Amino acid sequence: MAFDIDMIKGVYSNIEERVDKAREIVGKPLTLSEKILYSHLWDGNPTKAYVRGKDYVDFAPDRIACQDATAQMALLQFMQAGKDKVAVPTTVHCDHLIQAKEGAATDLRHANDVSSEVFNFLESVSNKYGIGFWKPGAGIIHQVVLENYAFPGGMMIGTDSHTVNAGGLGMVAVGVGGADAVDVMAGMAWELKFPKLIGVKLTGKLSGWTAPKDVILKVAEILTVKGGTGAIVEYFGPGATSMSCTGKGTICNMGAEIGATTSTFGYDESMERYLRSTDRADVADAANKVKEYLTADPEVYANPEQYFDQVIEINLSELGPLLNGPFTPDLSTEVGKDMTKKAQENDWPIKVEWGLIGSCTNSSYEDLSRASSIAQQALDKKLKTKAEFGINPGSEQVRYTAERDGILEVFEKLDAKIFTNACGPCIGQWARYKDPKNAPKNSIVHSFNRNFAKRADGNPNTHAFVASPELTAAIAIAGRLDFNPLTDKLINEDGEEVMLDEPTGWELPPKGFEVKDNGYLAPEEDGSHVQVEVKPDSERLQLLTPFEPLGDSITGAKLLIKAFGKCTTDHISMAGPWLRFRGHLDNIANNTLIGAVNAFNQKTNFVKNQLTGEYGGVPDVQREYKEAGIKSVVVGDHNYGEGSSREHAAMQPRHLGVAAVIVKSFARIHETNLKKQGMLGLTFDNENDYDLIEEDDTFNFLDLDQFAPDKQLTVEVVHSDGTKDTIKLNHTYNAAQIAWYKEGSALNLIKKQNA
Ligand code: F3S
Repeated sequence: MAFDIDMIKGVYSNIEERVDKAREIVGKPLTLSEKILYSHLWDGNPTKAYVRGKDYVDFAPDRIACQDATAQMALLQFMQAGKDKVAVPTTVHCDHLIQAKEGAATDLRHANDVSSEVFNFLESVSNKYGIGFWKPGAGIIHQVVLENYAFPGGMMIGTDSHTVNAGGLGMVAVGVGGADAVDVMAGMAWELKFPKLIGVKLTGKLSGWTAPKDVILKVAEILTVKGGTGAIVEYFGPGATSMSCTGKGTICNMGAEIGATTSTFGYDESMERYLRSTDRADVADAANKVKEYLTADPEVYANPEQYFDQVIEINLSELGPLLNGPFTPDLSTEVGKDMTKKAQENDWPIKVEWGLIGSCTNSSYEDLSRASSIAQQALDKKLKTKAEFGINPGSEQVRYTAERDGILEVFEKLDAKIFTNACGPCIGQWARYKDPKNAPKNSIVHSFNRNFAKRADGNPNTHAFVASPELTAAIAIAGRLDFNPLTDKLINEDGEEVMLDEPTGWELPPKGFEVKDNGYLAPEEDGSHVQVEVKPDSERLQLLTPFEPLGDSITGAKLLIKAFGKCTTDHISMAGPWLRFRGHLDNIANNTLIGAVNAFNQKTNFVKNQLTGEYGGVPDVQREYKEAGIKSVVVGDHNYGEGSSREHAAMQPRHLGVAAVIVKSFARIHETNLKKQGMLGLTFDNENDYDLIEEDDTFNFLDLDQFAPDKQLTVEVVHSDGTKDTIKLNHTYNAAQIAWYKEGSALNLIKKQNA
């Protein structure tokens, strides 16, 4: 069995005592989010009340999920930890590396050809270390997790930002970087700033053309793409309980688009129905026994303003279908209002060329059945669809059941392409054009979550709009962005005027879910004999070798680059075509800091090689320093390393021989990632000292042998004319993190402790 009922019962056996204790300590009724957070403290029973938005807290997640693109480096690192098995139930899902082009069968074969090396690696590592493996074609990580692993009141982390989807089944589920996942796999705690709490009260009831998707599109309009940052969004009210579980998943999924830490809903009958329908009656029975602990205390929802940091109210009965976009998911247009005008004013192509249904956001049985009810009307009413259709079912279980029930056949009759149960066009894995950079301007509508430029097809001129699956189907049939199915007529093949009726569908399959091969491979009980194969000449995978400690004396280190202004993890380790090398540290290191602006010439990837006096690319110059056995220093501005939590941005400089990163201030996750890789992440005590750094500088650390918590470090900066400046540097290393530095990395220390 894929899920672990004993683990879930263990969580429920602790929950009463821990939540009661937390309520006593906090001194007031608790939200659901607080109940889940306080019942998952690393140290067990709560001992203090945490300050929201301020205190960093160690948690003990119940599960981990990784997708194929991010799992590569995470598992390569885990292999360094010296463990026989993962400490926490973990799964790997192959969904990102599958291109959508011809249709499922051909595309899956192609993916298995071009990425078999990566898939085989992930499969064998999973088998060896007790990790559940979902094969290519098994489904999209977050739909598979919802169907198999998510459970009310649980906490999970995942190496993908839409891990938050599992909030639809009442979890606190958070997207993290690979380094965080590796810590938890290796038996360490997971640290998170105790989030702020936003309450969203849903009144009324969805009906007609309005879908759960419209709720989150409305929330995105209200809060914008940054409005949820650092917060958990907790939904409640009669509108919440009247919605399906997978609909709740859609809403939580797109919480990532407002920057929220995660989103969640209290346990209710829709979740119980979903659990029973997905063969988890024992989880539903266990949840029913503690159900008052799986939702907020009644006082909270009665007086939400007293318990949440912010409260929003949406009346679902008044909510109309929305179309958000282009290029940002928070730009809303209500269907039937202003789209014609907006499109004219902004020069958005009104003609719609594709309607895409799927992604982890909207690929449930309910989504496909409601969209197919619209597609069926096109057939019945003799309408010729104006745009092309593409469908990505969320999982093999959904696909098999939808095929059995004739749902896919309806789309096929409209010449839809049924793509693999995978991410496909949602992550740019859509072979729509030969030369996407020079492809024509056009509009598409999809039921995905993200619609940034180039996201779907690599074409910067594609205007992508986000809508519910049913509205996506209607707009694809009409072929116009400004089509309003509530009022507008279409002309059919007989020249008659016809209208589309409201969508209908099933929350869950009336004949139950069915699947022949769900694509799951359970790991062996004892995987010690399993060989993990990585070819020495592989371009895409490279086994890691432990980093050598940098030592307590660093002298003669050269300045590699003084970065000017914004330097995000994208500037440090670019994505795009480099994604291909995410499992090969030496190859991906060839993009190190190539996006950072050199403060001395305002150019990117153009720095002085102090050994030759010539200028070259950052990775090339750094490789020459490494070759010569010379360490180096990177200097940066404010909020260095903001952006994603990708650990590559710390591992690559470390691999190439950068010893220290000295900046005005850090983005916290990147600072922690530098510490984990055994590097020095330091800040100027006087930020004006940034201006003292010159292009030919050499750095001598004067007191690294006395590296200790709360004690400044001193560096002597020697300029090319022989003059020197002595600079004080601050750091935030605690004793454990200094031990990481001394051992060369956090993983080296774990390995030593396990030896
Ligand atoms: Fe995949 Fe797109 Fe979701 S890339 S995990 S379907 S956001």
